[in-house]
Amino acid sequence: MGKYDRLPESPIALSDLVREIQEKKGIEVIRFDVAEPQFPSPKEALEGTIEAIKSGLTRYTPPRGLPKLVSAVCQYLKVTRSLDYGEEEVIITPGAKFAVYSALKAVLDPGDEVILISPYWVSFKSIPLMLGARVVEVRMKKPYGLDEEFLKGAVNSRTKAMVINTPHNPTGWVFTKEELKVVRDLAIDHNLFVISDEVDWAYVYEGEHVSPASVPGMHEKAIVIDSFSKVYSMTGWRVGFAAGPKEVIDDILAIQQHTVSAPATFAQWGCLKLLEHVVNDRTCIDSLVELCRSNRDYIIKELGSIDGVECPKPPGAFYLFPSIEALGIHSDVLVRELLSHGVAVAPGHLFGAEFKYYFRVCYALPKEMVVVGVNRMKKYFSMRTHSRG
Ligand SMILES: Cc1ncc(COP(=O)(O)O)c(C=O)c1O
Repeated sequence: MGKYDRLPESPIALSDLVREIQEKKGIEVIRFDVAEPQFPSPKEALEGTIEAIKSGLTRYTPPRGLPKLVSAVCQYLKVTRSLDYGEEEVIITPGAKFAVYSALKAVLDPGDEVILISPYWVSFKSIPLMLGARVVEVRMKKPYGLDEEFLKGAVNSRTKAMVINTPHNPTGWVFTKEELKVVRDLAIDHNLFVISDEVDWAYVYEGEHVSPASVPGMHEKAIVIDSFSKVYSMTGWRVGFAAGPKEVIDDILAIQQHTVSAPATFAQWGCLKLLEHVVNDRTCIDSLVELCRSNRDYIIKELGSIDGVECPKPPGAFYLFPSIEALGIHSDVLVRELLSHGVAVAPGHLFGAEFKYYFRVCYALPKEMVVVGVNRMKKYFSMRTHSRG
């Protein structure tokens, strides 16, 4: 048995099963299971990368990342979130996932506790467990929102950090300024770090994205993590970044130096060209966000018409996390049965053991695919309900 065999599985693991079904049945499965926008990457990023390769920019960058990209990220954080970071407080990483890993490694020692809001993105649990730390789960209020009392009760002398992911995967909740002030007060009173994962920051349909680091007093406590993956449909580029107190970023730099060195040089050049463009023209962000808003509204309306499927409209991200508790269908059964109808969704228990009657739908897909997928889901639920009755 491998050392990490008991870690919770990532939704990425479903891909093999989907491939098998596609080959066996010869149908195209609609992929609502993977947490990625299924659109082309922006042309500025593509052109910047191709240009870099053609110009021979194929050698190492410094471990902190391409200096011009570090500087562009400082400006990006200022423009998008009113955050002030110097270049020594920023590092470019191979995706947000490695930034989350190294930030947690930098702040946690074995035996320390980290608080997660559940349901949670699977790696927020697996990474601390790999580091020998303990995870304390604080369940979100139903349907959405921070449970202030529960959170306060979870802090003890072993607590070192809290993970706040806003907009939130898998529910789509967007944490409010008031909720983040509660997080700030706890972080300051108990000397805790807040790992602030903001990879979906632009996907907000009602309200606004507030970075926990922008709450007064949080500059020294928050470690902001973001990437190009979700907002720009660039999941395969593997470029992300972290910003935070210099001593934490110095530790992340040491981890990066002795593990991955830095993200691919030409991918960083593409990201730089993209950010230089985005400062003046946000069309590529706005068009993705508008498409996702329209998908969200469509799916909510259609799923809402199915008896036993419960999903209040969330204000952000590109996920829905419906409950099928009323139908009594375990999410593993749902995943298997929906797959045979040509639709892939992620089972709820991956996001916390108590969510076995939930499933996650990622709706950042072209509208035509969403319509086909939703129709297949409706057919499945109608068949399921009739066979029960
Ligand atoms: C909350 C959250 N953080 C981080 C990531 C990983 O992002 P990246 O592709 O930049 O590593 C994901 C991807 O699913 C995510 O949902």
